[in-house]
Amino acid sequence: MTFEEALKKLIPYGQEHLLRFYEALSSEEQRDLLQQVEALDPKTIADLYQRLVVHPKTHIKDSLRAMDSVAFQDLDEAQRNRYWQSGLEELQKGHVAAFLVAGGQGSRLGFDGPKGAYDIGLPSGKSLFQLQAERIAHIQKCSGGLIPWYIMTSPQNHEETLRFFQLHNHFGLDPEQISFFPQGTLPSVDENGRILLADKGRISANPDGSGGCFRALKESGGLKDMRRRGIRWIFFYGVDNALVRVCDPYFIGFAKEQDKDVASKTVRKTHSAEHVGVYAYRNDAPSIIEYTELPQELAEATLPSGKLLYGSGNIINHVLKLDFLEKALHFEAAYHVAHKVVETVDEAGQKVRSITPNAYKFEALYFDLFRHAQDMALLDVERREEFAPVKNFEGVDSKDTARQMVLALCTSWVRALGLTPHREVELSPLLCMYGKELEANDLQERLDASPNGAIE
Ligand code: UTP
Repeated sequence: MTFEEALKKLIPYGQEHLLRFYEALSSEEQRDLLQQVEALDPKTIADLYQRLVVHPKTHIKDSLRAMDSVAFQDLDEAQRNRYWQSGLEELQKGHVAAFLVAGGQGSRLGFDGPKGAYDIGLPSGKSLFQLQAERIAHIQKCSGGLIPWYIMTSPQNHEETLRFFQLHNHFGLDPEQISFFPQGTLPSVDENGRILLADKGRISANPDGSGGCFRALKESGGLKDMRRRGIRWIFFYGVDNALVRVCDPYFIGFAKEQDKDVASKTVRKTHSAEHVGVYAYRNDAPSIIEYTELPQELAEATLPSGKLLYGSGNIINHVLKLDFLEKALHFEAAYHVAHKVVETVDEAGQKVRSITPNAYKFEALYFDLFRHAQDMALLDVERREEFAPVKNFEGVDSKDTARQMVLALCTSWVRALGLTPHREVELSPLLCMYGKELEANDLQERLDASPNGAIE
């Protein structure tokens, strides 16, 4: 694309300012900027700005209806065993893939690297990625089947994620079973809908939200690869739960028996005002309702048992049917807007960082896809066993709370065997994911030999 062609593309949308430093750039930078303009879709950005910023829908009269859930704790042993066996069968036949969305910027954590590389301070020093990889290895061992692992990164953390896996020898997994692909980006705009420059020759580009994952999976060839491998069930999850049971056979078995387009693991809200999205039918379509959107009287409504009516909280833990995903991908992603601080350049081309929000970012949310599902099935699980989020640098949902939860769970399993460890214990996921794999005799020896409580 030439400079004139770029100008012609931008002028109708009032975006020609993107070329205002063109003359000051080196010829290589000029070529690069023209390529960025070529890849830009100014019409989509203009439409998003008009729809989400200028004319946002403010009075949507949605009707909400509660969604039933099954509590794992209420299932009898026979039922649990049936789920386990049926899940293992699917895994053994190679019908299950893991799909991790790890393209977030992790701004609340303030960690300058891929969130999955974060060390939450366990005695073993294992990162979130390592905990997940070892759980995949564990389930492969239990089932005898291979689990392909699709990892969505972002352009910002892609290379570093690859390096981290290489550095750690893919945590013992076969590199061939892991695919990495970056999600797409969208430029941010200012208050007037003008696309921001991140630098004199660089258009701002932020990850297009977790909902960018399905398109990215398709464009990377991941969807085709899943078909080729005979995948039927996609275990979909977020990067920052230190207790996530990747491809849990109980859950796969549950999803298979319920036979819905989407099955989700949830945890019960601790109180009505907890900041977590909940499941409900919105205008009869399966949905996740953000806590900010749930009217207070509904948030506080209870069942005769005293349980919250809208009490099943989202923990980004789902099983999607591949057939459903392929169909749902034909629908446009729905974007949301966030008012945020984005670094840009001033009229003189100097980098500036505003203190107050200066930009609108457009982001798609993965769960918007669920409204195209015929129905969903919910499995409430125990928070202490399955949900230790790492969102903040300190305080609630931080590395400290997550580490404490992992250690408390492992230690409770050891105590249940009648052993009395002198310190908190960390059990390798390769050894144990549910507690039921442990044997007292064997464990005592390992405990005695461990210098720091970490048991491999
Ligand atoms: P969060 O909503 O917690 O966002 O992501 P985040 O970017 O990790 O953290 P903050 O809000 O900036 O502090 C939930 C999951 O969705 C993924 C994240 O990596 C995480 O697994 N995600 C989020 C993406 O993959 N891409 C995105 O653009 C946003």
